[in-house]
Amino acid sequence: MKKIYPKHIPVLLTESIAALNIKKDGIYFDCTFGTGGHSTQILKKIGKYGKLYAIDRDPEAITNAQKINNSRFEIIHGLFSNIENIAKNKNIVGKINGILLDLGMSDIQLKNPQRGFSFIENGPLDMRMNQNIGISAANWLKKTTKNEIYLILKKFGEEKFAKKIAQAIYNKNKKNPIHYTKELVEIIKSIIPIRNKFKHPATRTFQAIRIYLNQEIEELKKILVHSLKILTTGGRLSIISFHSLEDRIIKKFIKHNSAPLYIPKNLPITENKLHELHTIQLCNIARIFPTQKEIINNKKARSAILRVAEKIK
Ligand SMILES: C[S@@+](CC[C@H](N)C(=O)[O-])C[C@H]1O[C@@H](n2cnc3c(N)ncnc32)[C@H](O)[C@@H]1O
Repeated sequence: MKKIYPKHIPVLLTESIAALNIKKDGIYFDCTFGTGGHSTQILKKIGKYGKLYAIDRDPEAITNAQKINNSRFEIIHGLFSNIENIAKNKNIVGKINGILLDLGMSDIQLKNPQRGFSFIENGPLDMRMNQNIGISAANWLKKTTKNEIYLILKKFGEEKFAKKIAQAIYNKNKKNPIHYTKELVEIIKSIIPIRNKFKHPATRTFQAIRIYLNQEIEELKKILVHSLKILTTGGRLSIISFHSLEDRIIKKFIKHNSAPLYIPKNLPITENKLHELHTIQLCNIARIFPTQKEIINNKKARSAILRVAEKIK
């Protein structure tokens, strides 16, 4: 019998939509369509002359989005790092009123064992958000070096046991290659003592491999830079992230673009040159956390942070 997976419950939905400050005839981008929770709310708020473009890299999300029959809505299959080209093709550079990012994975991706993101249920160790592109986690672990595995677990998972886990993965793959999520989970469990009943020992390793394979950090850095070029004055950025690696990047980006550049007093530099070097383009609007009530109803909200900024120039 076909198993039914739980629906995706969007995190910080009301807050992230309110943060967009939606104008009836505005142009908006939902860069992480997923199951359309945020897109649906944006569509409710824009009027007859408003427009919503949504992006997702996952073909399954695209199939679902294509069911939306609304002339104010367009779904685009691809990476959100491509947003500047998309805006150029549509002739809307500098006209966009809001960009929403709800980073990470949807519950549909996470809870379907066939996608390989789940450390709870067994399935093929894949972890690609688009299974038609790139290589699966199992193939990557098979072909890469022990040191590379260690570096990825350290960098993207901040995993304390990175060295031991990398060694164990390497040893296992040499004898009998890992194909399933459960095999990887067993390796990790044999190394990490279970101390925290709220955090599965495989959390950090799975997070690291997923971030690396899907190039999530590069994607985020690129879209932040592109968004500055395509937003209109007064346009909003509303970004939900789920771990400190991402939040640090967003925080730094907003801070860098909203603060004057610090130049030591005695440096021989003219006002004009200073202007060339750095212009303030953003206003930092808010940092919002989920309420206790939301966290109780939706466990994954625990680690979410919403950051909001407005383009001012
Ligand atoms: C947390 S879910 C979004 C859920 C959505 N807000 C909702 O309410 O259903 C993140 C989605 O973004 C997509 N995604 C992640 N990184 C992406 C990227 N670089 N380019 C395009 N889509 C991406 C994933 O495939 C996933 O469907």
